[in-house]
Amino acid sequence: MSIGIFDSGVGGISVLREIRRLLPAEDLIYYADSAHCPYGGKPREQILARSTAITEFLIAQGARLIVVACNTATIAAVEHLRATYPLSFVGMEPAVKPAVALTRTGVVGVLATGAALAGEKFHRLLAQHAGGVRVITQPCPGLVEQVEYGDLDGPQTRALVERYTRPLLAQRADVLVLGCTHYPFLRPLIQDVVGPAVTLLDTGEAVARQTQRLLERQGVLVGAQRLGTIAWHTSGDAAAFARLRRLLLPEDDGCGG
Ligand code: SIN
Repeated sequence: MSIGIFDSGVGGISVLREIRRLLPAEDLIYYADSAHCPYGGKPREQILARSTAITEFLIAQGARLIVVACNTATIAAVEHLRATYPLSFVGMEPAVKPAVALTRTGVVGVLATGAALAGEKFHRLLAQHAGGVRVITQPCPGLVEQVEYGDLDGPQTRALVERYTRPLLAQRADVLVLGCTHYPFLRPLIQDVVGPAVTLLDTGEAVARQTQRLLERQGVLVGAQRLGTIAWHTSGDAAAFARLRRLLLPEDDGCGG
């Protein structure tokens, strides 16, 4: 029995990396829906249909818990998946609560896809946690694609990061939430652009801890001293995906097929 993890593409590998760090003995199955990436901009029904098909695939492969490692798919599908399948799902939630606790200027920026920012779930999160803090949202079209091209620090990616962070810095945001699982791979570039005084937050580690808690509660956490396997799947080009995941997760090169 394994942990299933899926995303529109390679972004969820940033979440897999945290799960691997915390729970190295667990077997993982990763599904990148690269043939349909990006999800941002697609109709909700299509994202729901893809999330359902991938969930069924992961269950057939032996997943006992599924991490929806994509903010856009979480918004579109996680409630439906929880209501439909008899296993636990962990979804993504932008790190608004810790960001609100950390800011000293009283201004927080959230970088995400337009679909994730427009979701009702996100607005509930703001209503619950923003308090007196100003939370400014910034949709970032094109950034997911740059990560999918493997361009983590080239001039085009830098120009996009500069364009999207400039208005947030101009409004004195001192904490930026990375609200898409692709963006942690751009963390060094974003930090370089915004400078060391701005704190970047993502949710990968919190999702890994939540995964651990759920497996513990179900009594199915792997206790053995072993290194678990990783099985990689994609709906896109297998060779291109393998090249990209080796770039993004060099520490696990040679682990899994
Ligand atoms: C996308 O596929 O558009 C981005 C996925 C995400 O929101 O994490």
